[in-house]
Parts: sequence; structure tokens; C-alpha cells
Amino acid sequence: MSAADSAPQGAQFGVAGMGVMGAALALNIADHGFRVEIWDRHPERIDEMRQQHRHPRISGTGSLEEFVARLERPRRILLMVTAGAPVDQMLERLFPLLSEGDVVLDAGNSWFQDTRRREELCRSKGLNFIGVGVSGGEEGARHGPSIMPGGSVKSYALVRPVLEAIAARTDEGLCVTHVGPDGAGHFVKMVHNGIEYADMQLLAETYDVLHRGLGLSNDAIADLFSQWNQGIAESFLLETSIKVLRKKDPETGKPLLDLVLDKAGQKGTGKWTVQVALDLGVPVPSIASALDARNLSSMKDERVAASRKLKGPTEALSAEEKAQLAAWTHDALYAARVVTYAQGMRLIQVASQEYKWDVSLASMARIWRGGCIIRAKLLTPLREAFTQQPELPNLLVSDAFAPVLERMAPQWRKLVATATKVGIPIPVFSSSLAYLDSYRSPELPQNLTQAQRDAFGAHTYQRRDKPDAGFVHSDWNG
Ligand code: 6PG
Repeated sequence: MSAADSAPQGAQFGVAGMGVMGAALALNIADHGFRVEIWDRHPERIDEMRQQHRHPRISGTGSLEEFVARLERPRRILLMVTAGAPVDQMLERLFPLLSEGDVVLDAGNSWFQDTRRREELCRSKGLNFIGVGVSGGEEGARHGPSIMPGGSVKSYALVRPVLEAIAARTDEGLCVTHVGPDGAGHFVKMVHNGIEYADMQLLAETYDVLHRGLGLSNDAIADLFSQWNQGIAESFLLETSIKVLRKKDPETGKPLLDLVLDKAGQKGTGKWTVQVALDLGVPVPSIASALDARNLSSMKDERVAASRKLKGPTEALSAEEKAQLAAWTHDALYAARVVTYAQGMRLIQVASQEYKWDVSLASMARIWRGGCIIRAKLLTPLREAFTQQPELPNLLVSDAFAPVLERMAPQWRKLVATATKVGIPIPVFSSSLAYLDSYRSPELPQNLTQAQRDAFGAHTYQRRDKPDAGFVHSDWNG
């Protein structure tokens, strides 16, 4: 399928759901030469979209029957509706209208197990179903998102020209690829969001250390971040933080950030990442700490009350700490970010083995290099590391990152020690450092854990000196 070779009458692509993201994707697809049919359950949204944009290749209808009838076969229909029950409801409405071989793409942030179920259901009806992770917000959807499609190879081939046309591209290639079968695309998008939570929390902690710890103004922090963004720490989220730090409230002239209530919201993908990681037994403490940080932040009233009872340390920063803290924080930010990406990649790797998805981590790094929220310079060495060693068990031991972590860890430790000394919470900086220290420890104190389990519950343990003896029990009371 190409933009030019279809019959003039039918639309080549359908987009159902004209919210912000659906509308932006429809415009992006049409801009790339495809005829697009749009539908929404609120017909006024169709009118709005057509009046506002008057795109020559976009037509629309409020009737789902007409929408489906106006599409070329095999039909390609992208759903951009709220994740959860609305996707199932849309499928139920579409089933009687579709024909064998048609393709339905779900581009919302759907739970990957729902995607696996829906893919199987559609397959049983002779339909193709693709669960597509789309990242980049409205701007990305409009001008080039990162796209993570999961489904059969055959289904992907039917939509590939459109997805490749609209995706972001970087020097390293297109920011779309076939991620793997059934739920693979939505799983990868979920982990993307988990990493996003950790990265955002690291930036929040960095801001806190510089603001509360060093007393820097928002503009001074923005200046520092701008310098950092010229180097290895360069990332979209850092760039976004600079914009946010500089913004003045048009009403009051004050820094707008200072007027934002410190209660973080969430839509659930970070929580899912942690839940799945627990199920698969993959430690993701950086992501879990970021999630907890959001949950703790939302307990505003309790925190305000507690602040009157629970006093923090009164120690001040030393002259060396004052002089060095910003530089330490830069290195800590980079190193901790490497650790959070390492945890996310490991989670994808384990899920890929569990569900037989065969996800290429190097390709994931490539498609995250542009368009998405976690795009960052470090994805380039990360991609190279997984290209050289696709089965690398953990990014931390890669030749690209192990020396960097060794070089930056001393500064990271100083940041953690200093912030802890003055009572500034840095949950992701510290849990990421603990992960690194645990992962690099040949010995951990879980011999005590095992002994306790055996002592109070006869849960048995393995002996170091008798590896062939299997699990044994001792009488710890004697
Ligand atoms: C993206 C974003 C997008 C959305 C998050 C926000 O990749 O474009 O991740 O999916 O901004 O879902 O999630 P929270 O509301 O949970 O922060």
C-alpha cells in the first residue's frame, strides 16, 4: 500500500476517536498523503475537526456504519479511545461491520494482557489486531511519534507503510518497528512509561536538591540544566524541565512552577509496570520509588500535619558540599538514569522470554531515540550495547556503561549522603544506588533472611559448603 496507488473513492485509513491524540494522528496520516476517514461518538467533534483543519484528505462521519463502509479493503482502523472497557465496546460494535482480513489497531495505553486477549479474539474471527504503543503526546502524534506496534507479522505488514510514514525519525533510523506478537507493543509502551516516571522523579529530586539544598532560583536551575542539556545528560524531559522552570505566570508574574500544587497525578501505566515486575520477579526499585513518590506527594494534608511534629536535621551544608553539589548531582542524574533504563530493559527482556515475543532491545532503544517522552542521548550507547550483546543480562555490566558508572558512582554517593544529611528526600537517587550496590555485590545478607525463615517456619535453606545437598532444615533453637 502506498499513498498514491489506491482507488480514489475509499479512504485508506480510518481513525476512530477524535480526542486530542486521535485528531493529531489523523492529521499526521493525512499529511503523509493517505486519505483518512474519521469517526467519533460525538458527531460535533467531526465537524469541529473538519472546520478547523479543512484537510483535503480527511473526511468524516458520525455513523460508525458509514465510517466502516467508506474504507478500502482490507480496512485499517485505528482506535484512539480510552483504554479499558471502551476498547472492548468499540470492538463489539465493529465486529458485525468488518470483513475477514481487516485490521484494527488499538493506539491507547492498554493493559498488555487485554491486548493479548483481544488479539486472540480478533484472530478467531479472521481479523487482525495490533496493540500499538504511541508516545510523544499531542505534539508527537501530530508531527512524529515513537510507535510500538505489537501483533502478527502479517498484520503489521498491512499497516507498516502508514506507521513508517508518520513516525519520528532520527539519524539512527525510524522510530517504529514491529515489536513482537500480541501484547508486546503495549508492554514495551508500559515500560517506557515506567522509565518515564523514574526519570521525571530524578529530575524532581534534582530540582529539590538545587532549590532547597543550594537555594538556587528557578532561572538559575534552568541555566544549569541548559548547560547539562548540551552534554551526555541531554534528554527531552530535561529540555521540558528547562521550559517549565523558566515559565512566568501571566497573571502574577511569578514563576508558574511555584504556583503548581505539589500533588502528582497518574493514569496507571507506572503502577502496572511495578505490578508486572513484581509478578515476573524483576526488581525495578527506581520505578517503584518514583511511583511511591507520586503517592506520597498526593498525601498533602497528612504531610503538612506531619511537618509540625516530625522535625528534620538542622545541619547545614559544608563549604565543599555547597561548591560541589551541583556537579555531583549532574553525575548522579546520569548514572541513576542509566540504572532506571537498565531496570526497564531487563523487565522487557524477561517478559519477552516469558511470552515468547523475541523483542530486540537494540531496536527498542532506536525507536525511543526520537518522538517519545524518554528520548535521551544515552539511548545511543544503550542501543550500541544491546546491538553488540543482544542477550546482555543487565545494561550495568555492558562495556559502554560499567566504566561510566564506576567513574560517576563516587559523586552519586556524595549527593545521596549530602541530601540525606540535610533531610531532602531523594527516593529514586538512593534506591537506584542501592540497586547498583546490590547488583554488584557477590555477597548479600540474605543468608540471614534464609536462616530466619528456616528458624521460625522450617522453610529450609541451601548450604554453601554442601551445594549438592539441596534444601535442608536445621534446629536453630538447640
Ligand atoms: C507518552 C506519555 C503518555 C502520557 C502518560 C502520562 O509516552 O506520550 O507517557 O502516555 O503522558 O501516560 O502518564 P501519567 O498520567 O500516569 O503520568
